[in-house]
Amino acid sequence: MRTGILGVGKYLPENVLTNADLERMVDTTDEWITTRTGIKQRRIASDTEATSDMAVKAARNALKHANLEPKDIDLIIVATITPDMFFPSTACIVQNKLGAREVPAFDIAVACSGYIYGLAIADQFIRGGAYKHALVIASEKLSAVTDWEDRSTCVLFGDGAGAAVLGPVEEGGILGANLGADGSKGELLQLPAGGSRMPASFKTVENKLHTIKMEGNVLFKHAVKIMADAALAVTEPLGLKGDDIDIIIPHQANVRILNALAKRMGVDPAKKVYLNIEKYGNMSAASSAVALTEAVEEGRIKKGDTILMDAFGGGLTWGALIIKW
Ligand code: ACO
Repeated sequence: MRTGILGVGKYLPENVLTNADLERMVDTTDEWITTRTGIKQRRIASDTEATSDMAVKAARNALKHANLEPKDIDLIIVATITPDMFFPSTACIVQNKLGAREVPAFDIAVACSGYIYGLAIADQFIRGGAYKHALVIASEKLSAVTDWEDRSTCVLFGDGAGAAVLGPVEEGGILGANLGADGSKGELLQLPAGGSRMPASFKTVENKLHTIKMEGNVLFKHAVKIMADAALAVTEPLGLKGDDIDIIIPHQANVRILNALAKRMGVDPAKKVYLNIEKYGNMSAASSAVALTEAVEEGRIKKGDTILMDAFGGGLTWGALIIKW
């Protein structure tokens, strides 16, 4: 018995922010953003829409796709670095809004790798027999923690949510996972204030320390190497080569990172790497969740396909997963 994905779902806020809109906000150009990142537009949640609201909508869609009800869920994991609040966890808020039973519910803060970590954790519980059906949701409202005057970050991020319902399957399922973290490079991507190290104050607000600080250029080099290493670490023990992978569903941070990953895997990026970054930008953990959902919706994934999921994010963290659909 293995763990399979029984249903997927997504939610994207309606409001679209284009590169042309950003040209009017900061000193940037559509040409710079498109050539350096591959992003053309992103979605921005409304003021009244929090991470849990998007999570619930994505979860309902995934449950519908799986033909299951909230009462069928035995475990809820929400991957987010933009929770509604410190506590209660977004997962507890989601459990209540969904009308799920009093099942375990917790958040994981793994930045962009959160969806893959969530799938891998749920896989352990299901294969171990503790739970039958798990709901893994990745939801992010990065617009709430973006410095809209910093052109080096504000052009990159967007809001959205994706979800999966997992359960036991007799054929296919999750074949392997590779997770990792390197805390020594945490300062390359952080949101410095608001925690116990630097509690919120007038000064932290004035100095914009509640927004994402990123050393993009240094991260870029780590991302290329780490994503490729994680992919090889999960494929090699399974005896899989680039040709055996039908589709790569990666975290969508930068199209240039993904082209480099494809090269290292020896696959044609145009044929095998699923991309939707041009529509949504980098939604942290939600990126790979929405990408998997859209690849399924578009018929890019067929029964029996071998899928490589691969992500890298703040922490630093990374995760790669092989699923036989
Ligand atoms: N418009 C125009 N010019 C800009 C912009 C912009 N929006 N942003 C930066 N520039 C300028 C810089 O000031 C710099 O100018 P200079 O040469 O005069 O100093 C120049 O463009 C080049 O800047 P770089 O930072 O070197 O640009 P780079 O090619 O590295 O692209 C980017 C930047 C897109 C951020 C890239 O480095 C990247 O994608 N990094 C990885 C990000 C990532 O993977 N993060 C982890 C996941 S995110 C998460 O976990 C939430």
